[in-house]
Amino acid sequence: MRLDKLLGKAGYGSRNQVKKLIRSQQVRVDGELAQAGNLNVDSNLQVITVSGQSLSYSPDVYYLLNKPEGVVSAVTDRKHQTVIDLIAPADRREGLYPVGRLDRDTEGLILITNNGPLGFRLLHPKHHVSKTYYAEVNGLLAPDAPAFFGNGIAFHDGTVCKPAKLEIISSSPVFSCAHITISEGKFHQIKKMFLAYGVKVTYLRRISFAQFQLGELPPGSYRQLTHEEKELLKVYLG
Ligand code: URA
Repeated sequence: MRLDKLLGKAGYGSRNQVKKLIRSQQVRVDGELAQAGNLNVDSNLQVITVSGQSLSYSPDVYYLLNKPEGVVSAVTDRKHQTVIDLIAPADRREGLYPVGRLDRDTEGLILITNNGPLGFRLLHPKHHVSKTYYAEVNGLLAPDAPAFFGNGIAFHDGTVCKPAKLEIISSSPVFSCAHITISEGKFHQIKKMFLAYGVKVTYLRRISFAQFQLGELPPGSYRQLTHEEKELLKVYLG
């Protein structure tokens, strides 16, 4: 959110009054004098002070949700329950949205926030944010499979994936499971990569996204990011 907008919402007066506060060097962000009202700030992640007093107003929220199967990664949907429907009314904020997408039949970690620029930045290819999934498939993952995934799989339409890390957990001709880590987010990427290898994904759960871990959070539940986890987001907001 823009600094001037945040100060206005936090009760520091009209646009003009806020402008004057900034011009008169009374506003600091993480100790640095704020130079302009259009600075993009986040009071959850940065210490903002006005005349030495820190701002307690925090409009941005960050939730880590375990999306259950059958729920869509969207803000609204005419047919299906959405991840936003799973947020309790007291925790809702204007502008809440999921960062990225999981297929409707995929379970697992998804971040929900109302911080507009965050999603765009976290998903920007330059950050190579890694995502790890637990996958079950209907066939054999042979000892050559990690090299196949690690070499960068090419789909029939010519799309080439970046190298992915496959760690086989167990394998048999009719059922195998593995952890797979990718650093990009092509549509149905994991399912298509396994199909390229010759097996079909029968169950998929995202267990980590960037530095965030799903842990033991049950499907359908969510929690706020901890202070330490919010600190990690600073890298993407800078
Ligand atoms: N890859 C998939 O195929 N599906 C998902 O939901 C996420 C990654």
